[in-house]
Amino acid sequence: MLDAGPTDAAVDAGFERGTAAYYGERIYRYYCGFCHGYQGEGYRSDNANALSNPNFLRSATRTFWEEAIIYGRPGTPMSAWGREMGGPLRAIDVSDIMAYVAHWERPDPIEGLHEQVITGDRDRGWDLYLEMGCDDCHGEDGSGVTAPGVSNSWLLESASDGFLRYAIAEGRPGTDMPGYEQVLTDQEIDDLVVLLRSWATPVNREPPPPFEPDLTDPLINPDGEAASFTPREGTFYVPAQQVYDQLTEGRRMILADARAASDYLVGHISGAISLPFYDELVEEAVEVLPRDTWIIAYCGCPHAVSGRLAQALIDGGFEFVGVLDEGYYHWRDERWPITNGRERY
Ligand code: HEC
Ligand code: HEC
Repeated sequence: MLDAGPTDAAVDAGFERGTAAYYGERIYRYYCGFCHGYQGEGYRSDNANALSNPNFLRSATRTFWEEAIIYGRPGTPMSAWGREMGGPLRAIDVSDIMAYVAHWERPDPIEGLHEQVITGDRDRGWDLYLEMGCDDCHGEDGSGVTAPGVSNSWLLESASDGFLRYAIAEGRPGTDMPGYEQVLTDQEIDDLVVLLRSWATPVNREPPPPFEPDLTDPLINPDGEAASFTPREGTFYVPAQQVYDQLTEGRRMILADARAASDYLVGHISGAISLPFYDELVEEAVEVLPRDTWIIAYCGCPHAVSGRLAQALIDGGFEFVGVLDEGYYHWRDERWPITNGRERY
């Protein structure tokens, strides 16, 4: 599955065959690069931050990274990739990724950063959050608009006060995140950290019970007339409204959730099958899914992952394949039918 193609990019990048960094590069390229950028430059898909940003690397601990990869950022396109949470990566894969990202250049760590204990006033922090326009990018509830979230339970679990403070004070040069050191006093920055902290909610480390996606009964409305979609011109993106309308009219279709199974278990469109883009199940799907029925792939990001699944199906000779244009979170926010847990309906 981790076929590197005709040239071995990991070797081209200077990693000795068989080392942890060599495998890490391949894993990163397959599972991460299409959102975070192949050099960690970020933003190939919405809000996927710049992982090779020197200020980020300087302040993020190994535990911060590992928890982000294993548990993800629930409610965002960042899946829980750890096998224990229903994702595809084993502990050794995660440590290979760590060996790979270690080659990105970074300044020396800051002495004592993660031991800083910060005190401040939440209400002043809130006033500043609005005054400085943090909400324009991060949202009024901190869940992220044009930037990653700053209220996510797993972010706040993994990030020390010092990490948050450093991000606000120094920013992330080369990205949209400004540094506020020149604009705000030390105490004001602390007040903002206290505000972000006040958004923390308990995290869930509980692994879901084992789940094996399968392809039995993939059809929604099996007895209905076949759905017929018109993708946006020159693309395979199908507007969500079309899908919703035909679904509720009782037309026959297949919805394929391309995200990690960990996401599917948290919530998916009612009736969708789980078909993670990386899973061997995709090969089986090419063999067994009907070719006379539209298949709409979706993810949360809103195209990167579903686009890969759709392309695999097209490469497998399927003609009626589309990608849900606005993605899962739009569907959920419209309050169209979704379900959680293991049932499809
Ligand atoms: C113009 C948009 C913008 C504004 C305004 C902005 N941010 Fe950010 N912020 C970002 C982006 C983009 C990132 C991620 C950058 C990256 O790729 O590393 C970020 C990152 C962060 C992070 C680190 C999050 C993480 O997961 O690593 C924190 C904390 C943060 N911002 C807090 C704030 C606060 C507090 C304010 C207001 C004082 C603010 N930001 C204003 C765009 C913005
Ligand atoms: C589908 C797109 C997508 C894929 C694939 C993806 N990520 Fe992410 N990742 C995101 C987004 C979006 C965020 C920010 C989420 C938020 O709003 O808090 C994120 C956040 C992160 C963070 C936390 C950064 C911070 O400052 O808080 C790390 C670390 C990370 N990703 C690493 C990875 C690694 C390693 C992989 C591959 C195993 C990966 N990601 C795969 C979209 C993705």
